[in-house]
Amino acid sequence: MEYINNELHLGPKKKNLKSLTANYMRPIYVYDLDFIRMRFAAMSQALKNVRIFYAMKANPNPEVLRCLKEAGSGADVVSLGEIKRALENGFSPADIVYSGVGKTRHEITEALKLDIYQINVESLPELERIGQIAKEMGKKAAIALRLNPDIDIKTHPYIATGLRDNKFGMELSLVPELIRCLKSYAGSLELVGVSLHLGSQMLEFEGYKEALERLKKVFIALQKEFSSLQRFDFGGGLGIYYDRLDLAKEEAILKEYAEITLSSLQELNCDLQSEPGRWLLGHAGVLLTQVQYVKKTSEKTFVIVDAGMNHLIRPSLYEAEHLILPLDKKSEEGVFDIVGPICESSDFFAKDRKIAKVKEGDFLAVMDAGAYGYSMASSYNLQELPLEICI
Ligand SMILES: Cc1ncc(COP(=O)(O)O)c(C=O)c1O
Repeated sequence: MEYINNELHLGPKKKNLKSLTANYMRPIYVYDLDFIRMRFAAMSQALKNVRIFYAMKANPNPEVLRCLKEAGSGADVVSLGEIKRALENGFSPADIVYSGVGKTRHEITEALKLDIYQINVESLPELERIGQIAKEMGKKAAIALRLNPDIDIKTHPYIATGLRDNKFGMELSLVPELIRCLKSYAGSLELVGVSLHLGSQMLEFEGYKEALERLKKVFIALQKEFSSLQRFDFGGGLGIYYDRLDLAKEEAILKEYAEITLSSLQELNCDLQSEPGRWLLGHAGVLLTQVQYVKKTSEKTFVIVDAGMNHLIRPSLYEAEHLILPLDKKSEEGVFDIVGPICESSDFFAKDRKIAKVKEGDFLAVMDAGAYGYSMASSYNLQELPLEICI
């Protein structure tokens, strides 16, 4: 983004964000499809010969999905709702990897009816459940085992998933039982992959490297038992910077991530898969919101805007710090808490933040809100959901 004639513009085609507020009614998420295409191309180039399955929980906007499908992506989904949304927007069942710890009988049955490309299994009871249902239906389910290598990637605890005390994936010590179960359902379960996802906002890779080493050994051992095992899915989780815009550094980090992954996994001689979300979408979106009041107390000055934690929950949930910029550049700055209208003290976008001195009616852009923004929005307090615009 950049200011041109003191007005904030977004993306490679430099869209003037102010032009989108002409008939402003309520907060608006704006997504830049060119930027998403650019990021997908950069990632595909770095991760040569890796099939990318976009983790659509990051942003399941229909235009975003169509854009990524056209760019060559598959879809990583975590519910029947996401499967349906993917199918409605151009993906075929052969493009879909189905992850998630709580798949219901109904969801599994529907996924099997569709012959989904791969189901990432997260527990022994889930494997058994899929085996039973597939048997009853006369189907053979393509299974990947999501393994939990018990590795700390030093991210916010709420987005770490690869530790022993997380609910995700299966401990390596469970492998003998998984083998027994797979063999007892040999006609109904086909082991096609091993999968890994350590968590989100990964910006350094010591833990990731170690996780790949651990899972490689398991992969090789499993392949001796199941010749059908041909896919290694190394998950998503590549991080972005929220406190600055440094795309060159992010591309350098992407290269490092790709080199570590490809050099570690090449000896497996198998198909490689990835499930990125945030890296593709994070910077591609902003949340536009309007200042309602500037409220001074003896302690602080609050900028009260019309968007709240119900629209973008990341600051409240993960203590995420998004850049916040005025659409009209200002010469003066002040220190403010930027807060929403929701009746919770955790409803804030920034605390004691030095930003442009704004007044009632001004517009602000909460930057880098393209991933886990609208997809986590709710209508708490019976506030309307924000609008979404793709440019
Ligand atoms: C199984 C799985 N894969 C991929 C992702 C995408 O992660 P990110 O958006 O950090 O790339 C997630 C995110 O929670 C996930 O749970």
